[in-house]
Amino acid sequence: MTARVRVVVAGAGRFGSLHVRTWREAGADVVAVVDADASRAAAVASRFDIAVSGDDLARVLAEAKPDAVVVASDESTHTVVARTAIAAGCHVFVEKPLALSGRDAKETIDAAESQGLHVIAGQISRFAQPYVYLKQAISSGRLGELWTVRLRRDFTRSWLNDFGSRVHPVWESCIHDIDLALYLTGEQPQRVFAVQTRQGTDVVPSAVSVLVELSGGKTATIESAWSVPDRGPQSLAGALDLSGTIAGECEVIGEGGTVKQRLLSDAITEWGDNGVIVPDLSLWPEQMGRIGGALRAEVDHAINVFSGTRGNEIMPHREALWGVQMAEAIIRSLETGLPEKVGQS
Ligand SMILES: NC(=O)c1ccc[n+]([C@@H]2O[C@H](COP(=O)([O-])OP(=O)(O)OC[C@H]3O[C@@H](n4cnc5c(N)ncnc54)[C@H](O)[C@@H]3O)[C@@H](O)[C@H]2O)c1
Repeated sequence: MTARVRVVVAGAGRFGSLHVRTWREAGADVVAVVDADASRAAAVASRFDIAVSGDDLARVLAEAKPDAVVVASDESTHTVVARTAIAAGCHVFVEKPLALSGRDAKETIDAAESQGLHVIAGQISRFAQPYVYLKQAISSGRLGELWTVRLRRDFTRSWLNDFGSRVHPVWESCIHDIDLALYLTGEQPQRVFAVQTRQGTDVVPSAVSVLVELSGGKTATIESAWSVPDRGPQSLAGALDLSGTIAGECEVIGEGGTVKQRLLSDAITEWGDNGVIVPDLSLWPEQMGRIGGALRAEVDHAINVFSGTRGNEIMPHREALWGVQMAEAIIRSLETGLPEKVGQS
């Protein structure tokens, strides 16, 4: 039997707590929880009966000597937290986005590679069954030559003020579809042109539309709006301490056919006194008392990669970097009003 992978979770907020639970259920040994707010780290550690918690990641890593760090802190801290972990000789699983600039992403990847460590960017959609189906439809050849990928994602309105604008919203919403465009086509992004809509005096966009040119001549479109009314159909009822809606749609179009997918399906609809629930069953559903779906598959994959039992071909370093560079170019295009080359900053 191989030894259990020992991990420290950095960031004990909504998603960090879900990571603690999922990594433990997947068989990892979560040896410590760290948060900038020590009391939050302590509360999550105590909930999961984990002995060590604190607010000083470097000190915890020096004492606990884990194999890996799960970075689930605020987006703006991912680079510094990941670098601290890599400097301590740890593999890193970094929640999306990997970094807030191509330069930071490249330096993080270079630092890890120079020590023979893995970086996994937490782009969960690669592990969600609907997108896996789309990927298989393309790679099986039955769609013939792939022409274009159309991606659309709408989020609950109030999320924009809650957490969606703590960094540029492109890093929160579009980043999923940016990664899907790369995952589904396998091509390097070349050029983007993005336009936006703003509400009143808001400085951040409430809707973004992007045209994407990829290296092999394929194209993609990405649209995102923080538009779902707070009392719209709820898709996130369950294990994550967040209610609201992710309404994603995707079409892959090839010369031989089209596959259409909808994240918000009407397969199950529950009408109750608090409104309508349309539960998402692909991202982190509870199955027989455990977190399942894409999050569990992603964590299983990371454990296998970190323990050396498989390679990281599902989330290669180069595609993680391209995704960050593409988000950066989209934000640049929103600022300049012009098409922007990807990877030019
Ligand atoms: N893959 C997905 O679908 C998905 C879903 C939700 C959130 N996320 C990502 O997970 C991450 C966390 O999001 P969240 O919703 O849990 O946010 P959150 O605000 O609930 O939690 C963030 C936590 O990080 C802590 N923190 C801040 N700086 C830190 C530092 N330097 N070191 C350690 N902890 C620090 C904060 O104190 C807070 O407790 C974000 O990157 C977010 O984009 C991903």
